[in-house]
Amino acid sequence: MKNITRDNLTDTVKSSFAQIDDERQRHLVNRLVHHLHAFATETGLSHDEWREGIAFLHRMAEISSPSRSEFTLLSDVLGLSSLVDLLAARPGATEGSVLGPFHTRGSPWVDNGSNLIRDNAGEPVLIQGRVTDIDGQPLANATIDFWQNADNGMYWQIDDSQPQDNLRCQIKVQADGCFELATIRPRPYLVPTDGPVGELLRVSRRDAWRPAHFHIIVEAPGHRSLITEVFDEADPWVDKDAVFGVRASLVRPFTPASDAATAQRMGLPANYLSVDLPIRLARED
Ligand SMILES: [Fe+2]
Repeated sequence: MKNITRDNLTDTVKSSFAQIDDERQRHLVNRLVHHLHAFATETGLSHDEWREGIAFLHRMAEISSPSRSEFTLLSDVLGLSSLVDLLAARPGATEGSVLGPFHTRGSPWVDNGSNLIRDNAGEPVLIQGRVTDIDGQPLANATIDFWQNADNGMYWQIDDSQPQDNLRCQIKVQADGCFELATIRPRPYLVPTDGPVGELLRVSRRDAWRPAHFHIIVEAPGHRSLITEVFDEADPWVDKDAVFGVRASLVRPFTPASDAATAQRMGLPANYLSVDLPIRLARED
């Protein structure tokens, strides 16, 4: 019988996972055990604190559903999501940022150059960009999955006043990698605070605001997919994002514009805001 002691417990637990076939999975579990045990040892974790932690995870699970991942939100406010994004960064490529909880697959395909504004209130915005590789060569087969919130700060999935698929779409870029969309200025919003993550934010006296942003996923054959966000330079929360998603390179000016031909082509009013959005994708490793 093995005599489990403080000195041999961690190694014994690691050994118990040594039969995991997949090398990477085995390594991840090994390091998870290592750092969990180090955390408990370093902090002198008490029974009460351990129970409180388990109860917190129970509440996390209870409030989660297919349309709400409290675990993703916890990862976001702990900065883990952003760390994973930063670890995945490749030199020369556009930086990634958090996916957030409001991406769902199956967004409607629309033509490049579409206007998403329809009945939405808000300041009209023209997004113009170009998808290239890191050497500036256009990626003619790139696709863009785009979503944002409405002028009331809410995404269509959680707001009955908005039509299905409001302010989201997928487009294919032109042969020269260029694309354009007419939409509205996004708004800052609060991450959900009615669950355990809200408890954590309140006890930390942290704000729950996210600065206004567009979400995009850009994909092109042979290249690493990019999940990122584009932030409004003028937003008051741009330096205090609750989920640490802001990168300087992703903060863009929303510049007043009034080109008559462009406004007519895109179905925009005479005065609108213009956002330039260059996207560079790294090759697959
Ligand atoms: Fe968002």
